[in-house]
Amino acid sequence: MSQQTTNGAAPSAPTGPRVARLILDGRELELPVVIGSEGETGLDIMQLRAKTGAITLDQGYGNTGACESSITFIDGERGILRYRGYPIEELAEKADFVEVCHLLIYGELPNAKELADFTSRLTRHTLLHEDMKKFFEGYPGGAHPMAMLSAMVASLSAYYSEDDELDLNIVRLLAKAITIAAFSYKKNIGQPFMYPRNELSYCANFLHMMHAVPAEPFTVNPVFARVLNLLLILHADHEQNCSTSTVRMVGSSQANLFASIAAGICALWGPLHGGANQAVIEMLETIRQDGSNYKKYVEMAKDKDSGFRLMGFGHRVYKNFDPRASILKKAAAEVLGQLGIQDPLLDIAKALEEVALHDEFFVSRKLYPNVDFYSGVIYRAMGIPTNMFTVMFALGRLPGWIAHWREMRDDPKTRINRPRQIYTGATERAYKPVSER
Ligand code: ACO
Repeated sequence: MSQQTTNGAAPSAPTGPRVARLILDGRELELPVVIGSEGETGLDIMQLRAKTGAITLDQGYGNTGACESSITFIDGERGILRYRGYPIEELAEKADFVEVCHLLIYGELPNAKELADFTSRLTRHTLLHEDMKKFFEGYPGGAHPMAMLSAMVASLSAYYSEDDELDLNIVRLLAKAITIAAFSYKKNIGQPFMYPRNELSYCANFLHMMHAVPAEPFTVNPVFARVLNLLLILHADHEQNCSTSTVRMVGSSQANLFASIAAGICALWGPLHGGANQAVIEMLETIRQDGSNYKKYVEMAKDKDSGFRLMGFGHRVYKNFDPRASILKKAAAEVLGQLGIQDPLLDIAKALEEVALHDEFFVSRKLYPNVDFYSGVIYRAMGIPTNMFTVMFALGRLPGWIAHWREMRDDPKTRINRPRQIYTGATERAYKPVSER
């Protein structure tokens, strides 16, 4: 493939619309070049198969743009993450998670009236239909809360119609998700469900439902509510990651909002994605029990035959640092300091990071701590159990999934997502009766 501007040097300013030229079997096809608002370049191959009979092959989609989106910008080389143009560092420092939900879903930070309305609606829709409480009874003790969260979110579509106003279903989903998450924890530990309280903020309400019991008054620690607000903001969107692409994929078949988001929750669960935060703490705990010999685990991670990876390290997109990890590393130290907690796992995490960042294996592959490396240490300090970590990630990611689902639905270019394949199986052969096999 040759590009119009040629010769390997930095391209000179184009004089007309840029095109790329693809030559296949002597035939040339011009591919229009699509440029994003931050200068990202894409080759539009929409006519490729019709004109040449060929498709592209990009396992893992590292080079494939599946849509145009105006929600989140990432520059992985420079460690930049912006929601609707706002740098993550600024939102992390100044914003409330509810504002960020509005920003991601509706495109702008809310004004005072919009924020008051949105907050009030989010507060008033937190109750679950009483029948839904019975679902929790059917789960075995110790059921993974992600299993309950995904099933309950899908089940919301049994209670709330697609014909209802979309904004109402969006509010219902954001509001009820914290109640579902807290109830799945209460079910696991055998405590009564705590109902939401309308005088509390979104984050404080969730923490109240998690940690209060009916027998005595409970006050939410403001440090916990503040740090939860930060964690949810940092997880709120990350453009076309595995779970968000799943939401868009499922939504492209015109499946309803709840069903599409439930699919995203399942995609998030895996240890290579949102499940990494649970896997990080389990790994740090294993290292602690092994005499804190972190160097041994760095060596294991370098040995491909060991099948072991440093969880919380590496990212498909970030190749210098993950800006969310930098914020969380600082927050972890601050929060533990404020609470007077000494967590040996934080020391191991820092030591592991230090060794890995100076090791040729990790340096050459541009492997750095990702958002999940330090989040678990903070959740532990807040008394949130390890198997709830991925649920916490899901609560944060909800506005991002909803924003993408909505953008996908409103985009006239959306078609059902249906990739192709290069078939490598047997060519045609005749059926043999079982006696001849
Ligand atoms: N530990 C050791 N080696 C690693 C790690 C790791 N955590 N991550 C990548 N590598 C190595 C690979 O073995 C590979 O080496 P090679 O080139 O010699 O074969 C190279 O680095 C590139 O790795 P890939 O798996 O090809 O990178 P990819 O972009 O496909 O995967 C991923 C990214 C899944 C995040 C990967 O780095 C990983 O498994 N990390 C651990 C799990 C994790 O933390 N996931 C959370 C991601 S962030 C999020 O979803 C919130």
